[in-house]
Amino acid sequence: MNPQLMFLMLLLLPCLALSSEDSELIPPRWDVYDNGKIYDITHRITAETPTGISQTGIGEDYLRLHDSMRNGSDYNFSIIKLPAHSGTHVDAPGHFYENYFEAGFDVDSLDLRVLNGPALLVDVPRDTNITAEVMKSLNIPKGIRRVLFRTLNTDRRLMWEKRFDTSYVGFMKDGAQWLKDNTDIKLVGIDYLSVAAYDHLVSAHRVFLKNREIILVEGLKLEDIEAGIYVVHCLPLRLFGAEGCPIRCMLIK
Ligand SMILES: *[C@@H]1O[C@H](CO)[C@@H](O)[C@H](O)[C@H]1NC(C)=O
Ligand SMILES: *[C@@H]1O[C@H](CO)[C@@H](O)[C@H](O)[C@H]1NC(C)=O
Ligand SMILES: *[C@@H]1O[C@H](CO)[C@@H](O)[C@H](O)[C@H]1NC(C)=O
Repeated sequence: MNPQLMFLMLLLLPCLALSSEDSELIPPRWDVYDNGKIYDITHRITAETPTGISQTGIGEDYLRLHDSMRNGSDYNFSIIKLPAHSGTHVDAPGHFYENYFEAGFDVDSLDLRVLNGPALLVDVPRDTNITAEVMKSLNIPKGIRRVLFRTLNTDRRLMWEKRFDTSYVGFMKDGAQWLKDNTDIKLVGIDYLSVAAYDHLVSAHRVFLKNREIILVEGLKLEDIEAGIYVVHCLPLRLFGAEGCPIRCMLIK
């Protein structure tokens, strides 16, 4: 046999074996890479992903096949339909300010330099919402620009429940104001769908978004990661006109 052909067959052999055995086709799904060098802190989007506008998650039709091979198409081709604020997502200033929305302060206008860089993962006392007093007690040094707040929400695994639970922990208005007045934090991350506690939903969001300097990343997956300093990478879609959208975030040690 021609040696070149032989080489080609050797190359193809594993592929042929795989395709004949579908049971071996198991997609990898990682949360942690290289023993904790990299953490994916994004929640997987499924039909049960929670959102504030539903008690039953985002539902099955978040992905719908527009063309399907089973129906004779040459390909599968899906359409995505998602609440902009579902799962791990980012808020743009237009989320709580009509004038910012009208002026186009959408997710496409968010600063990638804020969304990427050194970040502190910190544990918040579990028996309280995030007040000014709590913020003060955390002693976050000046110069820290990105903080991911891990709260009781993580212990309660709220993001794993499809039902929207209004008893989650978040910032009270005075906590948000304290952060703004006394720290250099420009990226605020939290482990449920809203950085603001439910009773302070509007007021705390408005404090954070007012100057359009602070970016809010919500619904982070912070289980089983040591508190401390990492490099965070968060990348939103360039969804023109959207005041929020799913975001992919990871931490690198
Ligand atoms: C495939 O065909 C069935 C039967 O006509 C139809 O109900 C279904 O919506 C089609 N699905 C797609 C993805 O085209
Ligand atoms: C999608 O594509 C696969 C082949 O890759 C096919 O087996 C499957 O039936 C398709 N799904 C649908 C709903 O058509
Ligand atoms: C936080 O505030 C919400 C209401 O906004 C409340 O339901 C919840 O019990 C509070 N959590 C704690 C730990 O105080």
